[in-house]
Amino acid sequence: MANAPATVPSTSDVVIRLEDVSLFYGSFRAVRDISYPFRTHAITAIIGPSGCGKSTLLRSINRMNDLVPSARATGRMMFHGEDLYGDGVDPVEVRRRIGMVFQKANPFPKSIYDNVAFGPRVNGFKGNLDDLVEQSLRRASLWDDVKESSSSRAWPCRAASSNACASPAPSPPSPRSSSWTSPARRSIPAPRCSSRN
Ligand SMILES: Nc1ncnc2c1ncn2[C@@H]1O[C@H](COP(=O)(O)OP(=O)(O)OP(=O)(O)O)[C@@H](O)[C@H]1O
Ligand SMILES: [Mg+2]
Repeated sequence: MANAPATVPSTSDVVIRLEDVSLFYGSFRAVRDISYPFRTHAITAIIGPSGCGKSTLLRSINRMNDLVPSARATGRMMFHGEDLYGDGVDPVEVRRRIGMVFQKANPFPKSIYDNVAFGPRVNGFKGNLDDLVEQSLRRASLWDDVKESSSSRAWPCRAASSNACASPAPSPPSPRSSSWTSPARRSIPAPRCSSRN
């Protein structure tokens, strides 16, 4: 990373700290030597041209790149002072705590209801699922469009609503991973682009 923040935040102000992070696909280094303290309660934008490694960096922080066989990381990524790649760290728990919203919606091939209900079901939600789905669709301003077919639960997941049904917010994010209050806008340069040679 070319630029460091003007002031060095204290440890308690940092939610995620990257230290000399490089990310590889096989022998190709897609992200090179990133060190950066992501502050709590702040929005940080990573801006750069297509292919420069933004998604690779984000997927590595929440351990989604573990699912790419050729992917590997060097350096350290700390979350609240804990090494995200440390021994015994459960990648599923990491993904639970560090959420990710994708630029392209990927709804499951199920009804809207089942897409919205998927996360709560997996997490053993014991409350009223119908209410939760309705609340979520209301918050996404979709309820009025789909409520007529809600009783049959046979809601086709069409393109118009796929964005919301792929990324509904049926439960608030974990406080440990969220930075919603009083956001201060910050931006950092994108990872340097690497050539394949
Ligand atoms: N699964 C993969 N296997 C091999 N190379 C990959 C893989 N995913 C990404 N890459 C390569 O890593 C580099 C960074 O890609 P990445 O998708 O992180 O860029 P990006 O900045 O998010 O781009 P965009 O703005 O288009 O989303 C690119 O050269 C890309 O071709
Ligand atoms: Mg991307």
